[in-house]
Amino acid sequence: MGLLLVTIAILVASLELNMINGEPQVPCFFIFGDSLSDSGNNNNLVTLAKANFLPYGIDFPDGHTGRFTNGRTTVDIIGDHLGLNGYIKAFPIVKEEEIVGGVNYASGSAGIRAETGFQVGDRISMDEQMNNHKEIVSRISTSLGQNNSAAHLNKCLYSVNVGSNDWMFNYFLKAPQTSTPEAYAGTLITQLSDQLNTLYDLGARKVILFGLGPLGCLPLINIQGICSSYVNDVMDMYNIKLKSLADTFNTNHSDAKFIWINTLDIVSPNNLPRPWVEDNKCTLLWNISKYVLQSTQCSMY
Ligand SMILES: *[C@@H]1O[C@H](CO)[C@@H](O)[C@H](O)[C@H]1NC(C)=O
Ligand SMILES: *[C@@H]1O[C@H](CO)[C@@H](O)[C@H](O)[C@H]1NC(C)=O
Ligand SMILES: *[C@@H]1O[C@H](CO)[C@@H](O)[C@H](O)[C@H]1NC(C)=O
Repeated sequence: MGLLLVTIAILVASLELNMINGEPQVPCFFIFGDSLSDSGNNNNLVTLAKANFLPYGIDFPDGHTGRFTNGRTTVDIIGDHLGLNGYIKAFPIVKEEEIVGGVNYASGSAGIRAETGFQVGDRISMDEQMNNHKEIVSRISTSLGQNNSAAHLNKCLYSVNVGSNDWMFNYFLKAPQTSTPEAYAGTLITQLSDQLNTLYDLGARKVILFGLGPLGCLPLINIQGICSSYVNDVMDMYNIKLKSLADTFNTNHSDAKFIWINTLDIVSPNNLPRPWVEDNKCTLLWNISKYVLQSTQCSMY
């Protein structure tokens, strides 16, 4: 994931051009999705999809918070580039005075579909994340007053990075598959569209929609070290539908801006890093995430 983080960091660096020292570019940041964005929402759930132990977090200032990475997540890096004051807290631990600045609802193993990820235990699906956001919005409305709250929520940035698990932890696990990839992608897009409409109705006007990465290169399905072009082609097909969804939202809502991120292009399979050498610090995670863990404390050959 390191390369994705770095590349997106470069992308958002352009946002810094107008940045006044110490003044965040957005007053608030709300985060939805899966383990790519989770900042600790799974810590108290009964699930195997947890990351609140070492060596997760070995490069993060607050240690192992439940982030599924050695360091910052993509949304942490985006927040840093936007000049946010600290990282956005997970829903279960965010303090009342912090909610006005944003909340992170993302949950490892979760998906657009409710059943996605059930194999590893509890998770907070996108529909449940929307319900949690509804509750937060009503608390903000109580504290700021309805009109101020609406104006405030319009100015916030919203990140939606979800869908990987609907493929890897759902569709591709079913054998034989009960629908074509195209038909399944269509149902995901329809459901995500409902969720995004809910988000819009709750005041979101600046939304980042992340496309999916080259999941055919995940170590999990890539034992031989060769990416699955079948899986990556399916991701391509899905991402094109996701981009049109963003286009449709922009057409339908002239007061909103939906930005689609071409993750698959940014994280080109050809650009994936070479495996990390097993050493005493990194050996633990070597076999499950050799392409994911890019710690400054690991050495590379
Ligand atoms: C909220 O905005 C509406 C419509 O602009 C206005 O009629 C109403 O008086 C405002 N309420 C408050 C409490 O400011
Ligand atoms: C966009 O508007 C059209 C026409 O009103 C509607 O049929 C469609 O469902 C809308 N799409 C979204 C994603 O809201
Ligand atoms: C990783 O897998 C290899 C071969 O499958 C095995 O020999 C090695 O002990 C494993 N390393 C760890 C840390 O589990």
